[in-house]
Amino acid sequence: MSFKDKVVFISGASSGIGAATAKEFSKEGAYVVIVDRNETKMEKVAAECVSYGKKSLVIKADVSKDNEVKAAIDKTIQKFEKLDILVNNQERAGIIRYENFIDGRILEAYDELMATNLRATVHLTSLAVPHLIETKGSVIDIYSIA
Ligand SMILES: NC(=O)c1ccc[n+]([C@@H]2O[C@H](COP(=O)([O-])OP(=O)(O)OC[C@H]3O[C@@H](n4cnc5c(N)ncnc54)[C@H](OP(=O)(O)O)[C@@H]3O)[C@@H](O)[C@H]2O)c1
Repeated sequence: MSFKDKVVFISGASSGIGAATAKEFSKEGAYVVIVDRNETKMEKVAAECVSYGKKSLVIKADVSKDNEVKAAIDKTIQKFEKLDILVNNQERAGIIRYENFIDGRILEAYDELMATNLRATVHLTSLAVPHLIETKGSVIDIYSIA
């Protein structure tokens, strides 16, 4: 399938499945928007995407922060003037890594996980949908069963 000239926004794209997704879409001719927190890692992914012949855009954003999510979507539209595919992929690892229910940090850990894994997806999708309606685009959500 060709994704020639499609604009694909991928969160959590500096490593793992997100990085691989960015590279594969680039190979298929798409412009990719690489969104994550670590600029060094994102630039490496972007360099590989550009090597397939398409422009990419790197945006440093913590998607648990509302203003950074909005700025990321705004920058995407400013640069490419459209959005075809949103890939919600960012992940904060499971709550189990935050010790236990009696160390006093459980609510902090819960809020951090929900802000990244769930709220950010809802927020990104709500801001992307008006643009996706215009392009008859798609949303891809990547999650664990948990
Ligand atoms: N790998 C698997 O076998 C597997 C299996 C089933 C499902 N999944 C799902 O696939 C998705 C990706 O998994 P993965 O294995 O590729 O994980 P990963 O390598 O840890 O990638 C997740 C990315 O999300 C970024 N991220 C975390 N919090 C963020 C935030 N607040 N703002 C922006 N970026 C943020 C991480 O950046 P930092 O490095 O800065 O934290 C990281 O680059 C997850 O939803 C996971 O549950 C994975």
